[in-house]
Amino acid sequence: MKNILLTTAAFSLSVLFATAQIKPQNSIDQKVNALLAKMTLEEKVGQMTNLTLDAISKTDAAGKIVEPHEIDEQKLEEKILKYHIGSFQNVAGHTYDRKHWYEIISTMQRVALQDRLKIPALYGIDAIHGVTYTLGSTLFPQEIAMAATFNPELAHEEGEISAYETRASYIPWNFSPVLDVAKNQAWPRIYETFGEDPYLVKTMGASIIKGYQGNNVGDKYHVTSTMKHFLGYGDPLSGKDRTPAWIPDRYMREYFLPPFIEAIKAGSRTLMVNSSEINGVPIHSSHYLLTDVLRKELKFDGIVISDWMDVSYLHTRHHVAATEKDAVALAVNAGIDMCIVPYDYSFYNYLIQCVHEGKVPMSRIDESVRRILHVKYELGLFDRPVGNPEDYPDFGSDKFKAVSRQAADEAITLLKNNNQILPLKKSMRILVTGPTANTMRSLDGGWSYTWQGEQDDKYAVDKKTILEAIEQKIGKQNVQYEPGAAFDSLENVNAAVAAAKQADAIVLCLGESSYTENFGNIDDLNMPAAQTELAQQLAKSGKPVILVLAEGRPRIVTLANNAATATLMAYLPGNEGGDAIADILFGDVNPSGKLPFTYPRSPNALVNYYRKNIENGNGDDSHGYHPLYEFGFGLSYTTFRYSNLRIDKHDLKDNETLTVNVDVTNTGNRDGKESVLLFTSELYASIAPDTKRLRAFNKIELKAGETKTVTFKISAGDLAYVNDDGKTAAEPGEFKIQVADQTLNFNYSTSKPFNKQTDGKL
Ligand code: BGC
Repeated sequence: MKNILLTTAAFSLSVLFATAQIKPQNSIDQKVNALLAKMTLEEKVGQMTNLTLDAISKTDAAGKIVEPHEIDEQKLEEKILKYHIGSFQNVAGHTYDRKHWYEIISTMQRVALQDRLKIPALYGIDAIHGVTYTLGSTLFPQEIAMAATFNPELAHEEGEISAYETRASYIPWNFSPVLDVAKNQAWPRIYETFGEDPYLVKTMGASIIKGYQGNNVGDKYHVTSTMKHFLGYGDPLSGKDRTPAWIPDRYMREYFLPPFIEAIKAGSRTLMVNSSEINGVPIHSSHYLLTDVLRKELKFDGIVISDWMDVSYLHTRHHVAATEKDAVALAVNAGIDMCIVPYDYSFYNYLIQCVHEGKVPMSRIDESVRRILHVKYELGLFDRPVGNPEDYPDFGSDKFKAVSRQAADEAITLLKNNNQILPLKKSMRILVTGPTANTMRSLDGGWSYTWQGEQDDKYAVDKKTILEAIEQKIGKQNVQYEPGAAFDSLENVNAAVAAAKQADAIVLCLGESSYTENFGNIDDLNMPAAQTELAQQLAKSGKPVILVLAEGRPRIVTLANNAATATLMAYLPGNEGGDAIADILFGDVNPSGKLPFTYPRSPNALVNYYRKNIENGNGDDSHGYHPLYEFGFGLSYTTFRYSNLRIDKHDLKDNETLTVNVDVTNTGNRDGKESVLLFTSELYASIAPDTKRLRAFNKIELKAGETKTVTFKISAGDLAYVNDDGKTAAEPGEFKIQVADQTLNFNYSTSKPFNKQTDGKL
């Protein structure tokens, strides 16, 4: 999709980011081999070790990190000059300005270049929705909201800008994107993902990776991405973070693997491993996934990094290694190249012992170090270990923020709009209430300035909360604010109800505060009772309730939604999200987001949209698939009519392409954007087919009254699924195409008989 703003921004970015030529691979290979030949075992294992910034920061007498953080040069020298540690990461508790990052990285590189072989250190950071840990950076909507835009060009622009600002912080390595397919709606990392659909995840994921890495990952405006977390992290049985999943190999390949395949094709250079265990096997010890699948089948030749402490957890948490030393051997032999230890020399010492004892072959060490050095060369670190502060005049600029704002505008999803209550009139008196109304934490979520985002209101003080944005939009005199409830308890609900009586409409902001990883675990997906109670009490006032949801996962809001006249899903829309919400509420922007996940109606009905047919009711429709809102749902202030779905042939052969056209008309009186989603269903197959699957999408912009024809090309690969033998293949049969309310059937056939044993490949 294009519009003027996007095109202009994309043009200026491409000029700005004009890149140098990619260095020929073999010249890097030669340098890597020459360097490797000079290295001792200790130097090699140092390269495989990654420590956190805490490990080289000054501490007080009690061992607490002193603030403001400073590098402890003595510790740093020990780490690098004695142990040859080659990689560092993260932050020690709070966010820094660019100058401070310059001091950290240049001190680190100065010492690294004093070591015998002068190998620059590799610094990594979680810049997962913009540059999380640098003050004044451009914070974007979280991935789940980016997915709701259904606009891969925006993801690409986010990638370009985040890469620019990460390099502006002198860091060349970004632990992003999350490519986990978010199947379990209770999982606290839903907001870090591109949603529940493999095709959406892989499309948005590949796009942001290309933005991060550009044409040359080594130029001063690009960074290497990290595909994470390989593999199957998004479906914990319990819904809690880092808890076991049971995923048969066929399903692993069908739903969870495709985004990683696409990301490898897009050129991602590093990969982080899922901390959990699947079918009883911790992924950090899975030779099958880390070597057989990742290296041999997918041909990934970049760095595999462990997640935080996960090698030692093979011993202490998963109990698959009787000692920490065994854990190190298990993980490295399975395929881990670099370990986030992250505080001490345990991995380093054990790995050296394992090599001496013959438990880890030297060839395995060389393989990992070769990959690590290769990426260091690709990133240009040998030529430019630290960037030049003058090179980044656009850091945190208005033109970057405009892209974040556009992403928020296109993400926010209108779920309900009875009586066309929205957009509200700017002359109305509005009560703003609810726990997410006046905090940036509920707009930015976790990984915002700090890991848990708990200091977001301090660091994003110049950004507008929902309340502040509404006040600015319609004037403070027209707005009354009553909190009504905290996240888990009512707070002077009577004052909110009394204020409702004086208002023309109530903007009720419910949802979640910021959290990250296991701090976001919940035992109940329901929105906390106090928030539902607030919605119900306010509805009794008879005034229209506009429910605004600022949350990282679909908390069950069925009762609050029933009490509301309109519902707007904001997800975690980022630093510009308050303004975007106000623009949509008051009609300055026409919403165009669509749900990237199924919004469940009840806590025991957490089924994804690509359910099996047997889940559609099985004779008892009342317990069939009946979510509050289906994947892909989203309203607009205008209306779109779909017509004339047509295909160029009714019999598709294996080597042919099916051309699908559909006309979309804006039948309302406002211009609008619409994501056109194409689903296919196989009617009968040898393995129970999914009810439907997203195969293509395209976001278009239509003026009032305008009609556009949208064209899709479908080939056998788009109809394929992973069969009983783990092979991806399209099985002959009848298929249905669905685009909005339009459907058509066609047949697919192959010239040779379908053979489950041999057809198709990953
Ligand atoms: C998370 C990763 C992250 C890493 C480094 C871990 O706890 O699971 O997603 O990249 O920390 O910050």
